[in-house]
Amino acid sequence: MDVRRLAEPALRMLFDLYRSMRPRLAATKDALRRRARSNDLLRRVYYDPHERDVYAVRNERLFSDAWHQERMLADAVRVDAYERALSVALRPGAVVADIGTGCGILALLAARHGAGTVHAVDHAAVIEWARQVADARGEDRIRFHRTHSRDFDPGHRVDVLVHEQIGDWLFDERMLDTLLDLRDRILQPEGRILPGAFDLHIEPVQLVDEQSVPFLHQIEAAGIDFSVLRDVSDDAVRTLRLVVPPADVAMALSSPRPLLHVDLHELSEARLPTRLTATRTVERVGRFDGFCVSFVAHLTPEIRIDTSPFAPASQRPWHWANGFLRVETRDVRPGDRIELELNALDLARPETWTWNANVVEQTATQRAG
Ligand SMILES: C[S@@+](CC[C@H](N)C(=O)[O-])C[C@H]1O[C@@H](n2cnc3c(N)ncnc32)[C@H](O)[C@@H]1O
Repeated sequence: MDVRRLAEPALRMLFDLYRSMRPRLAATKDALRRRARSNDLLRRVYYDPHERDVYAVRNERLFSDAWHQERMLADAVRVDAYERALSVALRPGAVVADIGTGCGILALLAARHGAGTVHAVDHAAVIEWARQVADARGEDRIRFHRTHSRDFDPGHRVDVLVHEQIGDWLFDERMLDTLLDLRDRILQPEGRILPGAFDLHIEPVQLVDEQSVPFLHQIEAAGIDFSVLRDVSDDAVRTLRLVVPPADVAMALSSPRPLLHVDLHELSEARLPTRLTATRTVERVGRFDGFCVSFVAHLTPEIRIDTSPFAPASQRPWHWANGFLRVETRDVRPGDRIELELNALDLARPETWTWNANVVEQTATQRAG
């Protein structure tokens, strides 16, 4: 019996079947992935496994790139804020650990402002560039450790943990996991984390006109109506997180107020809330395009880094962009209320954020009153 002749048609049939089903399988996989954001069981399949290790590899690669280091170093507002903070916060001879040293800027500034010993830690190859700069300056108080922070052990406790583990979405560079681990293992009981306190802002804004993009179902282009595509907007597009340069944000619709305050000295575990709500009263006529994400990092009680797009340009560190949560664009008037509900499986992973915006119009009577 010729087995090959018998098997070949069956194999071809199976292959054809697989090929015809491939688009449907891909669509099902995509749908499951989207659902996984809000379903506990599916989340474990799609988001959790090895997530921590995958992030560490991605982070190490990202920051091995000179471009990222160049942008951070060229941001003079950022560097100046750190230098001023270190100059007031360090007592002479302090033992400092610079977590994620990059090209070594914070370690070198700590040494300049009186640190006795500085441990410069980074898991990326860039730490070799930091070593070269320190050598060229004859700086011998810095010890370099090429390792991930969770494997870093200086053998004694340190007085200060200085870091810049801050992403556009504040927590997305895993600052909490990294710093709380180090705080508990190697920081003196009275030691300081610099910066140690943060405010998260998520404010309703109007974008500049050229950047205000309606959802598909709101669009009529050249007389062609796309409103039948409402489902598309309801599903994927509504959770599309964008990052916008501050210049794209034209106007705040209400007075900013922090939605969340976190102090790394006091936080008992690396857990952030998974649900945040806010209500803002509109103060000026405008178009509500979405919510703008920014943060304030408190380096000392007086020195802060503020990424609000409305901070004066000379005081805003430019290399951070602003997270942006789209909503169905609509016009609003003073007295209207904008309600935000944000759910996140993990606030440190913006890809797990979903949000709802509700606008409650002020009635004519309320307006008249
Ligand atoms: C935003 S950069 C800051 C670099 C530098 N401190 C500065 O202010 O210019 C963050 C750095 O931290 C490093 N990094 C991030 N997470 C780390 C971790 N858990 N352990 C060691 N290095 C880490 C990255 O490789 C990157 O060089």
